[in-house]
Order: sequence, then C-alpha cells, then structure tokens
Amino acid sequence: MNIAVITGASSGMGKEFCSRLFKEEDARLGAPYDEIWVIARSEGKLRELARSLDEKRIRVVPLDLTRSESISALKALLEEQKPSVRLLCNCAGMGKNGAFSEQSVEDTHTAISLNCEALSAVTQTILPYMTGHGGKRSAAIINIASSAGFLPQPNFAVYAASKSYVISFSRALAEELRDKKITVTCICPGPVDTDFIKVSKSDPNATFTGFKAKFVTTTEKLIPASIKAAKKGKTMLVYGMGQKMLHLTSKLVPTRLVLFFERKMK
Ligand SMILES: NC(=O)c1ccc[n+]([C@@H]2O[C@H](COP(=O)([O-])OP(=O)(O)OC[C@H]3O[C@@H](n4cnc5c(N)ncnc54)[C@H](OP(=O)(O)O)[C@@H]3O)[C@@H](O)[C@H]2O)c1
Repeated sequence: MNIAVITGASSGMGKEFCSRLFKEEDARLGAPYDEIWVIARSEGKLRELARSLDEKRIRVVPLDLTRSESISALKALLEEQKPSVRLLCNCAGMGKNGAFSEQSVEDTHTAISLNCEALSAVTQTILPYMTGHGGKRSAAIINIASSAGFLPQPNFAVYAASKSYVISFSRALAEELRDKKITVTCICPGPVDTDFIKVSKSDPNATFTGFKAKFVTTTEKLIPASIKAAKKGKTMLVYGMGQKMLHLTSKLVPTRLVLFFERKMK
C-alpha cells in the first residue's frame, strides 16, 4: 500500500497540501497513493476533510503529536499496515506571540515539543517505511519551517528558535538521505493567512499587523509552489521576495546589527 502522510492536516497548509496532493497524483512525489493519512488533534475537522475528498482513501489519524503515546500509536499503525510511505509532509506547528517572560512554561514546552521533537519523531518513525518504488526517487519529505528561523525574533523567541531547528535539521537530513534517494524539502514562508496567527495571539479574530501584514500570502499560492519545489527535489524553498531578502540579510549582515535596526524601527 502506497501512502502519503500529512501532519497538521486539519487546517491551513496541511489541509491545502492534502486537497492538492489528492487531486494532482504526481508520480514525482510517489503518487498514486492508495491512502493519504491525515494527522492532527481535531478529529472532526479531519473527518470533514476526508468526507470532502474520499473517505475510503483519506485515513483519519487523530493524534496529539506532543504526546509520546501518539508517536507509539503511529508506530503501531505503521507496523500493522506496513505501507510504503512515498511522501511525508510535516506541517503541524504552533508558536505563541509575546515576551518570553510573560509566556507560560506549558506554551514554551508545546512549541518546542510540536515544532522540533514531534517533527523529528514522526520523521524517524516513518523513515523505515520509505522503502522506495524503484524510480529516480524513493520518497520525499516536506518540512514546513519559516522565515522566522533565519534570525532571532524578540517577542517570538521560542518559535523562531524552533524553526531554526527545522531548517538546520532538514538540511542535514537532506544530505544524510541523498544516497537513499529520499529528498527533503524545507519550506520557509513568511506570514500566511491561516489559523496560525489566531493560535499565536490566542485571539480568534487576530490578523497579521504592522510590517508583517505587508507580506501576507495565502495557502493557495504557497502550497503549489511548495509542491513544485518538492517535485524538483529542492532542499529549500524561501517563498516570496520579502522573505528572500530577509534570508539574504541574515547571511550578510551581523545578527546584532539586524536586531539593532529592528529595535530602532519600532
Ligand atoms: N501561517 C503562518 O504565518 C506561518 C508562517 C510560516 C510557517 N508556518 C508554519 O506552517 C505550519 C502550518 O501552520 P498553518 O499556518 O497551517 O497553521 P494552522 O492553520 O494553525 O495549522 C496548524 C496545524 O497543526 C496542527 N496541530 C497543532 N497542534 C498539534 C498537536 N499537538 N498535535 C498534532 N497536530 C497539531 C493543527 O491541528 P489541530 O489543532 O487539530 O491539532 C493544524 O492542523 C506550522 O509549522 C507553522 O509553524 C506558518
């Protein structure tokens, strides 16, 4: 059984990946898939997604990925089904906005646990099932990082640090898996119009404001570009001109200077 696995599929980018991958069926990303496994905590939203596409081919796997027993449950499901995993999209992620000193230990733990530990654990659990299909490529991994990972971000400190982890981890893994013909594509978007900002500010009406508002994109634009990058086997996609400039700045300008100008611009 050939499958794709998508974490964070109940909303935003993960949901968009699921809809597009279901419809596109591109062999370069291992399609056709007998099943797409969708993972998130909100079982109702995952079932709704399955109903809107094909309940027989979308397997709902409701898991809280910050819990170690969820990783064990995923492992057990893989051992039982013994699928060939052609594609893994690690989209589940969150981050809380605001001063570190004012955030709860629980929020800090959740962000690190979900963005770093769960992404690594899901990948490590699934890798033995990326056995390949004899073509140019055995399997593909897409990790959603963020342009927040390029530089330290005051008032988004834990999130930015966690996304630096995703970038570094993805690039190293891409090298490790090269000989196995498994590609790893790290996606670095700027602000995207999803529920992320609402979760981030703990406000169901929250939107991006200030400088970030000028660079907001949509999943309808970002996800096709991400799929295209993964099809080409690109290691990294920095999405949008603003984020490309930020990436370049992070490489050329000393971090303390960037932080100084950021402080002055406030
Ligand atoms: N939107 C942006 O501006 C932006 C920019 C750059 C990068 N990103 C990154 O893009 C990725 C996707 O975010 P998004 O923008 O699509 O936000 P989103 O709409 O809030 O989606 C986040 C997804 O993660 C899932 N999730 C959250 N906690 C989870 C947990 N404990 N266990 C399992 N799943 C969990 C959520 O599902 P449940 O709540 O149902 O569990 C949801 O499906 C994240 O990694 C985020 O950091 C976002």
